[in-house]
Amino acid sequence: MTQDPLVERARAAALQAYAPYSRFSVGCAIESVDGEIAVGANMENACYRLGVCAEIAALTAAQQAFGLDKIARIAVAGGHVGPDGALAGAAPVTPCGGCRQAILEAAHVSGRDLEVVSASGDGNQTAAHPTSELIPFGFGPESLKDAG
Ligand code: THU
Repeated sequence: MTQDPLVERARAAALQAYAPYSRFSVGCAIESVDGEIAVGANMENACYRLGVCAEIAALTAAQQAFGLDKIARIAVAGGHVGPDGALAGAAPVTPCGGCRQAILEAAHVSGRDLEVVSASGDGNQTAAHPTSELIPFGFGPESLKDAG
């Protein structure tokens, strides 16, 4: 349990994950500049490679709810669902490489170096990083400036 309500929303979202193959449930909560929150969780598939990460699900929901341009902050939490039905796990979950790329796009659209809070499943450990630290030297929309 953390003091950060956005992390708690991410932990709650993880409980709605569909992750029967990895049994690793991830939730992501995205806060707008106006305090609205959109959430998502990972959704796996029998065709393993078609699984969707929590961050992508949440970014899609955020685009629908308030737009990528309004994103202020992102929280991610993950682990396993314990026998008591609560999200457990001691290590903070940082976004995978593909999700960092998607967050970079959102950071570009918002014009902010978006903070990403990574939390452990049990919520006891958190680490905050700006997008520029998660994906330094990233290939973003500005990288296409020399396209024809
Ligand atoms: N996963 C996410 O949802 N986000 C990440 O950033 C890392 C990994 C999911 C994908 C898969 O369903 C499970 O966690 C195990 O890799």
